[in-house]
Amino acid sequence: MQSNSSPSDAVSPTCEAQFVRIAETRREPLHFYLDGRKVSALQGDTLLTAVLMQQRRVRDSEFSGAPRAGFCLIGACQDCWMRTEDGKRLRACSTLVTAGLRVLTRIEPATAPAKSHSGDAQ
Ligand code: FES
Repeated sequence: MQSNSSPSDAVSPTCEAQFVRIAETRREPLHFYLDGRKVSALQGDTLLTAVLMQQRRVRDSEFSGAPRAGFCLIGACQDCWMRTEDGKRLRACSTLVTAGLRVLTRIEPATAPAKSHSGDAQ
């Protein structure tokens, strides 16, 4: 069987986006913030789509640090939870991206309060 694709059709291993938009390209654009970086999406994109149009992960696992990109895309697997900069949790596959939304892919663990060595209760 012969393929109709050319070598230029292949996805580059250095491609930084997980998704490539091939349809519905005429919706209104908007901007949101991904790890503090201003990026673009289209009205009606889910947050998962918007993020994976930029990079290959929606978050880093809070347990292993491994990159996660969602799995089911229908709100069942819990693999796509993200946080806004103010701490709100969002399920990326069932949340529409909105203009000005500020999301994080990595949550730094809270730093433990410094222990007092003086023995004084504070
Ligand atoms: S990708 Fe499975 S819940 Fe979002």
